[in-house]
Amino acid sequence: MNMQATTEEFAATLPAGVYGEKVLSVQHYTDRLFRFTMTRPDGFRFRSGEFAMIGLMVDGKPVYRAYSIASPSWAEELEFFSIKVPGGPLTQHLQNIQDGDIVLMRKKPTGTLVLDALTPAKRLYMFSTGTGIAPFASLIREPETYEKFDEVILTHTCREVAELQYGFDLVSEIRNDELLSEVVGDKLTHYATVTREPFERTGRITDLISSGKLFEDLGLPPLNPETDRGMICGSADMLKDTKALLEAAGMDEGANNKPSEFVIERAFVG
Ligand code: A2P
Repeated sequence: MNMQATTEEFAATLPAGVYGEKVLSVQHYTDRLFRFTMTRPDGFRFRSGEFAMIGLMVDGKPVYRAYSIASPSWAEELEFFSIKVPGGPLTQHLQNIQDGDIVLMRKKPTGTLVLDALTPAKRLYMFSTGTGIAPFASLIREPETYEKFDEVILTHTCREVAELQYGFDLVSEIRNDELLSEVVGDKLTHYATVTREPFERTGRITDLISSGKLFEDLGLPPLNPETDRGMICGSADMLKDTKALLEAAGMDEGANNKPSEFVIERAFVG
């Protein structure tokens, strides 16, 4: 059997309108979190911050969940950061993928955590918890982010310090990349906190906003719709509570068809 026949055979088993991409690397951070990369299909375009439907064939049927694409729009490979949910319809299987396995991806990416959904301002806050950092992993490696904003603040809150590792690795990758470090310069601040063990910074981001501690630590004024924009990605409760604080600061929610002062996306799990 030649290679061509193998590829055609495989393509014939794919559901219509779906890419089948090869896993290139898998990295496990904790028993709850892992990252993987896979090939990027020819002609697959997305805006940094968008998500795609990612899936696997399970018992002969495709099972999909929405995943933010963690790599930037210019990258050759696609990267994802995933939770492992015990018994989760997709993640209980996805957590076992290995190099060379095939992952499914529906063809159309979408999402609201995009630069186009925000009006111009000086400073961009990205508020994330857990795997909610994924769309921001894309956006902080996107040169356009730094063309549009003078300051970019990525907050990441997890239960435990080990869960922050992906974010630390990401920021040091940026600092060590010759081209990207030049684009980013000193515009990016990474503010990491944990809630369930001791660390140099602790507390929910919502509490740190309401108490003013976040701004004190950053040496910045409180949220102001004239200078600040926000993007939020985390659990449903975190989205609701953070959104309320931004609205209390006078900021207005935007969308793709109505750019405004902040945007929200659910962190997708399951
Ligand atoms: P906490 O440990 O106090 O619950 P999870 O893994 O449950 O999604 O949580 C990820 C992080 O988000 C945890 O640090 C958690 O804090 C925090 N978190 C959970 N709910 C909220 C909320 N409503 N507002 C802000 N942060 C939250």
